[in-house]
Amino acid sequence: MRSSLKNLKIEDQIARAWTLPSNLYSDPEAYAAEKETIFARTWQVVGHHDQVKNAGDYFTTELIGEPLVVVRGADGKLRAFYNVCRHRAGPAAEGCGSRKLFRCGYHGWTYDLDGSLISATEIEGVEGFHAEDFALAPVRVEEWFNFVFVNLDREARALNECLGELPEQVKKFPFAGMKLFERRTYDMKCNWKTYVDNYLEGYHLPSVHPGLNRELDYNAYTIEPHAEYVRQFSPIRGAQPGDATPRRYQEAGEDLTTDYFWMFPNWMLNCYPDNISLNIVLPLSAERSLAIFEWYLPEKDHGSAAARASVEFSHQIQIEDVAICETVQKNLHSRSYSRGRFSVKQEQGVHAFHRMYAEAMSQG
Ligand code: FES
Ligand SMILES: [Fe+2]
Repeated sequence: MRSSLKNLKIEDQIARAWTLPSNLYSDPEAYAAEKETIFARTWQVVGHHDQVKNAGDYFTTELIGEPLVVVRGADGKLRAFYNVCRHRAGPAAEGCGSRKLFRCGYHGWTYDLDGSLISATEIEGVEGFHAEDFALAPVRVEEWFNFVFVNLDREARALNECLGELPEQVKKFPFAGMKLFERRTYDMKCNWKTYVDNYLEGYHLPSVHPGLNRELDYNAYTIEPHAEYVRQFSPIRGAQPGDATPRRYQEAGEDLTTDYFWMFPNWMLNCYPDNISLNIVLPLSAERSLAIFEWYLPEKDHGSAAARASVEFSHQIQIEDVAICETVQKNLHSRSYSRGRFSVKQEQGVHAFHRMYAEAMSQG
């Protein structure tokens, strides 16, 4: 499998291209290779700014099974480490909160917030032991907007280089002033790529999301693939003559759009005029994934019925997406199916993803 992954090619002309082979959506070896080649080498969202706002604030998390701790040092600098004690691999930090130092939960070695070992209890008499050789192993960490990113690849390019024009394009939405309103998780019986494929096209809107389709102008839905991300956007439909029920954005004018950004490999920003949601798709196994949804709204709107309605509206869309993804996941196993073709008009995003995936895996 590893050698066939290295030779995986997706035709660059969408009109001639075929989709990824279906076995890549369930093969445990492909999944293991993806963890190393894709998830251990890309910038991953692990938290948000508010969790590490002040000196001493920290949180622990996991990324592809690696325990991590992110902490704001006494000097104000944000750092991340493998949350693995250098003695016998105990937990250097637990949970989240604020502290002056970390004390390992196994034998009590203490670490400074900058990762250096302060004291190793009862280590007297150990030959050649130098505390400076036993600092917590560092991990790359950066912030953009409200989010904290880590990258397990020490050699990775800087985050803003990877983001390309995305920050500029997101600017028209008032994200900076928004605060986390709600977080939900969805355990899904599908491969992470099944979910990403589905995210990257609006082709399924009329069949799968009639409610959302009513709010958007399907015929004007545009897909804009970039080097490492895809932007999809659509004008929002305001009130129409003959409407039986009101639309969500009654007053929509020409320039009101909804923009969906997906960044390779697994996170998305859904930008609506009144709220922005972040989605992260975490692979749990070859055929299970966790979708994390976070809704951000201006703080003044947090108590409003409209805020609730926004969350319920995208929750409903998510339920529809999970259902179709789980069915597709099951069907990808069918002996009748191995690969498909792309709609040139509607599936440029999926095609771009499959190209990025093949490119990344060939470098594995
Ligand atoms: S494993 Fe951390 S002090 Fe022993
Ligand atoms: Fe969908």
